[in-house]
Amino acid sequence: MEQSVKQQSGSSVAASAGESVCRRLADYETVRLSEAGDAVEIIDQTKLPGRIELVSLRSAEDIYDAIYRLRVRGAPAIGVAAALGIYVLAGQIAAKDYGTFYREFVRRKEYLDSARPTAVNLSWALNRMQNVVECHKGESPAAVLGFLKQEALAIRQEDEEVCRRIGEHGLMLLKPGDGILTHCNAGRLATCRYGTATAPIYLGQERGYHFRVFADETRPLLQGARLTACELQAAGVDVTLICDNMSASVMQKGWVNAVFVGCDRVAANGDTANKIGTSVVAAVAHYYGVPVYVCAPTSTIDLNTPDGAAIRIEQRPEEEVTEMWYRERMAPDGVKVYNPAFDVTDHTLIDAIITEHGVARAPYEQTLAGIAGKRMAEESEK
Ligand code: MRU
Repeated sequence: MEQSVKQQSGSSVAASAGESVCRRLADYETVRLSEAGDAVEIIDQTKLPGRIELVSLRSAEDIYDAIYRLRVRGAPAIGVAAALGIYVLAGQIAAKDYGTFYREFVRRKEYLDSARPTAVNLSWALNRMQNVVECHKGESPAAVLGFLKQEALAIRQEDEEVCRRIGEHGLMLLKPGDGILTHCNAGRLATCRYGTATAPIYLGQERGYHFRVFADETRPLLQGARLTACELQAAGVDVTLICDNMSASVMQKGWVNAVFVGCDRVAANGDTANKIGTSVVAAVAHYYGVPVYVCAPTSTIDLNTPDGAAIRIEQRPEEEVTEMWYRERMAPDGVKVYNPAFDVTDHTLIDAIITEHGVARAPYEQTLAGIAGKRMAEESEK
């Protein structure tokens, strides 16, 4: 296999073609702070599965762009990248006094927060970081920076633990040999480890459950084909790639025992926004009596949003539908294109929402509020 090394904005690429790229993925972190603490390092996910390209992000524009262009993506990973990113940017603020530092911090934070609107983890992580600055009001910028680093690293560390706990709760809903259908990528590339929807699959794999996984390719950006199929195949999971319009077919044949998906925002009534096409999968699963499980860290639950209608859905460029990933344009010039990045799955189609604090079932207004309470109780014990 050819091994190419490419330099890009001060970072390197470790890459070869095809399956060996996927096998090597586990050697790299989805998102982390550079050793010197002056950059966010990511795997550029737009280059997968062709090659593993590691990129160092130092400027506000680079971090914003990496999130907007889905170089780093998936709700939890976006949150971690933003937390590490705002720490890196805070380190570049020249101010000597708290007031100037605070104003400059908030300006940069709001800029990063505007990169993508649907995943609540972005503003959740940035608000946590701002809270740290506010809790240390009046202290020197150097001292505040130390606390910001601790918080950013804590957000990253917690993500691993949260996903593992989601995996344990999810695994209890499955039996050895089950067929699982997943949409988009809610895997380790969308988090720091384990993923959310894939966490039960990874834990089951370690424990000999021999699941059969169907990964929707996930048009238009192919996160299922490029990312989920890649990471599950590398982990030795029995994964079969299907086109998005094949989910009814595999369910009709009885090959799917459960649907596991991630999400970008859970509203107070249990409606969830996830990658476009999730609601079709959920409706089809409902028809065939296949349970639909949404995996959500509590950082993805937004009790301030009453229902799915209030979730802002990101609209993406037309080219993603008409030409991206094709050798040549596959639509007539000038055709109208509608390209929402997410859709809302109605809570009535969701059998359970699996969090690190347990499994919530309808009525979601009550059970999600209960889960949020458990999270607050755990935090106050720390
Ligand atoms: O546009 P993306 O690739 O960021 O969309 C990602 C998803 O929809 C994931 O399912 C969601 O963020 C959950 S990731 C654990």
